[in-house]
Amino acid sequence: MHRSAIAVLASGRGSNLKSILEAMKDPAWPAEVALVLSDVQKAPALGVAREAGIEAIAIDPDRKGPRLSSNAETTILAALAERAIRCLVLAGFMRILSRSFLRSFEGPVLNIHPSLLPAFPGLDAQGQAFRHGVRVAGATVHLVDEGIDTGPIVAQSAVTVHANDDRDALANRILEAEHRLYPEAIRKVLTVPYVVEGRRLRFHEEETSRS
Ligand code: GAR
Repeated sequence: MHRSAIAVLASGRGSNLKSILEAMKDPAWPAEVALVLSDVQKAPALGVAREAGIEAIAIDPDRKGPRLSSNAETTILAALAERAIRCLVLAGFMRILSRSFLRSFEGPVLNIHPSLLPAFPGLDAQGQAFRHGVRVAGATVHLVDEGIDTGPIVAQSAVTVHANDDRDALANRILEAEHRLYPEAIRKVLTVPYVVEGRRLRFHEEETSRS
């Protein structure tokens, strides 16, 4: 089977990257992680990639704050083009990509966020949900647009908040859900045609399953 080349952008520990690499062991999973990039020189995610024999590059963000410099974005785009990357997967990537970056990359750009969006966008979504006192929390995979955690939703997974949870217990339960959700969402985006109508992303198979 033909596998699409995908790249993963990660800033941190790389547990979602690990779950993606685990999924890749199944020959029926439709993607091959060809490159892992990080804006953090010492991100453990780079080590996770190298241990798995995958090319891993730290990109100097060249700028403080939530965005990358345009030089850094150009470097990333060139690396993606050189490797014919079809889909870019953000896995714990803590910066915001510019409109011009998103227009320049032709394939889908996916992100995973540890809340049931549109609730609790931004930083420490798990803490926000815990402090808010929600009974159900979860994770969302969405297409990346120019906003922060605002793009069309691809997939969501809900988890129950238990009475004796603290913030970290809840975050761990959400993370386990993320690890199941992300590889499946990537599979779907790469194999099932979809359209985006306004905010709604509709997979064609959903259309046919109604008839
Ligand atoms: C994950 O919980 C991911 O959803 C979150 O960062 C964590 C990364 O963990 N991402 C965001 O909050 C993005 N807004 P990981 O490095 O172990 O995959």
